[in-house]
Amino acid sequence: MYPNSSRTAGRRLRSLFAVAGLIWLVGLAWLLIDRGPASTLATPVLATAAPDLLLRSGGGTTTVHAGERAFSLSARSMGLPDRIRFADGDVPFEHPFSSEDGLGATHNADGCLGCHVNNGRSPGPDGFVADAGPVLLLGLADGSPSPEFGQQLQDRGSDADGLLAVEWLEEPGSYPDGSAFSLRRPVVSVDGADVTGLATSLRAAPPVFGGGLLEAISADDLRAMADPDDSDGDGVSGRLQEAIGDDGSPAAGRFGWKAQHASILATTRHAFDVDLHLDHGLAAERFGDDFLDDTAFYTRTVAVPAIRDRDDPDVRAGAAWFVQVGCAACHRTEPYTTTVVDVQALSDEVITPFTDLLLHDLGPDLADDLPQGVATGSEWRTAPLWGIGLTGVVGHEHYLHDGRARSVEEAILWHGGEAESARDAFMGLTAPDRSLVLRFLSAL
Ligand code: HEC
Ligand code: HEC
Repeated sequence: MYPNSSRTAGRRLRSLFAVAGLIWLVGLAWLLIDRGPASTLATPVLATAAPDLLLRSGGGTTTVHAGERAFSLSARSMGLPDRIRFADGDVPFEHPFSSEDGLGATHNADGCLGCHVNNGRSPGPDGFVADAGPVLLLGLADGSPSPEFGQQLQDRGSDADGLLAVEWLEEPGSYPDGSAFSLRRPVVSVDGADVTGLATSLRAAPPVFGGGLLEAISADDLRAMADPDDSDGDGVSGRLQEAIGDDGSPAAGRFGWKAQHASILATTRHAFDVDLHLDHGLAAERFGDDFLDDTAFYTRTVAVPAIRDRDDPDVRAGAAWFVQVGCAACHRTEPYTTTVVDVQALSDEVITPFTDLLLHDLGPDLADDLPQGVATGSEWRTAPLWGIGLTGVVGHEHYLHDGRARSVEEAILWHGGEAESARDAFMGLTAPDRSLVLRFLSAL
């Protein structure tokens, strides 16, 4: 026996008590500390009223046609003289140009419809995409055009720059409730042209309707929604794109995925010049001197499709969730009243395009590296959601600036940056509640 064994035993007993006491204290603390609601597990509860949904989201221009021509009818409220002008502009819009009437030796398509299929989106890029519509914008790191290729790769014509090809990388993911999804990310390559070192941006053609109404929203209304420094601290900033107006002075940008164009006229001119490399003189010989203005008039006055099933309880609940999870911070559900412009059907109309037309940082996953105007690589214009539920009527369906999303659900899952908390809140809903949000979007 060791002489001090009883002392050792006593010490052991004391430390045993100490350990037991510690465990007890930690246990007590565990019970007392407010760990908040079991946030990740609790089912979110709908506590927001459904917003008012205007049946006629495009005011008097709205059409209830929901078939394959849903995006190509004239503004319903136009009188005869304007309808005649609409028909005049429809001719060059639908015309397949050839070298005889002005098509350039390099181009991306031979007419507007080549990309804006039935005024809807271009088909999704897959493999070689010449003929299919999506284009590759190119530029130097500061956004200025490439000295060799200009601002867009021309992949058609006798003098084509090279062939654009898009492959897809699948990335699996899952909701907090365990349900799985897969997203695809584009991998762009150009065959026959060296674009290394250039900034690039793959762009699908967006649908073309309701443009004149977006143009008629007052710039003051847009400015009032901008919050560039996020001074209200809600995580959503939003800033106005700076572009050039038709009179050459600075104007709010509204069209294009980065709102880089101020007007439909500027967008239309850009399409003729850059997508078609059009010789305006030859085109005017065939379609008259006003062909550019007429095409722009047509593009301004295409009707907006009406909301469907707006009284359906599921649609209303989905709209309420849409507001509650934060989508409406950018895709605004409040209507605008348009200003008075030269076309009566577009003036003083109450419309809901579900956009603030502002630039938002949607995070690194959606970013390209091509700045445009004041927009950085990760900033995009809030896409208008009116008519989005009818996207598939033109024969194909995909979403976001490069067409990567195969469904509206995938489009939501790509949101990050300023929209990250809204996306996370959407992901945190139960599967039936997520379906309500998608049901609402399918009714637009
Ligand atoms: C080669 C394909 C292609 C052709 C041809 C084409 N577009 Fe586009 N269009 C696009 C793409 C891509 C965008 C988006 C551009 C961007 O954000 O950089 C676009 C955007 C637009 C927009 C802006 C829509 C919005 O909501 O922002 C309008 C309007 C438009 N085009 C009209 C026309 C007209 C009119 C013609 C014919 C003169 C035409 N386009 C020909 C591909 C095309
Ligand atoms: C911070 C602003 C913001 C918030 C919040 C936001 N979005 Fe978006 N949304 C955008 C922008 C910007 C785009 C265009 C992104 C792109 O094309 O890369 C977009 C695109 C979309 C598209 C695809 C549109 C098209 O034409 O392809 C859908 C659908 C959409 N959003 C739905 C939602 C839903 C549903 C929510 C809520 C869960 C939401 N958004 C929240 C800004 C926002």
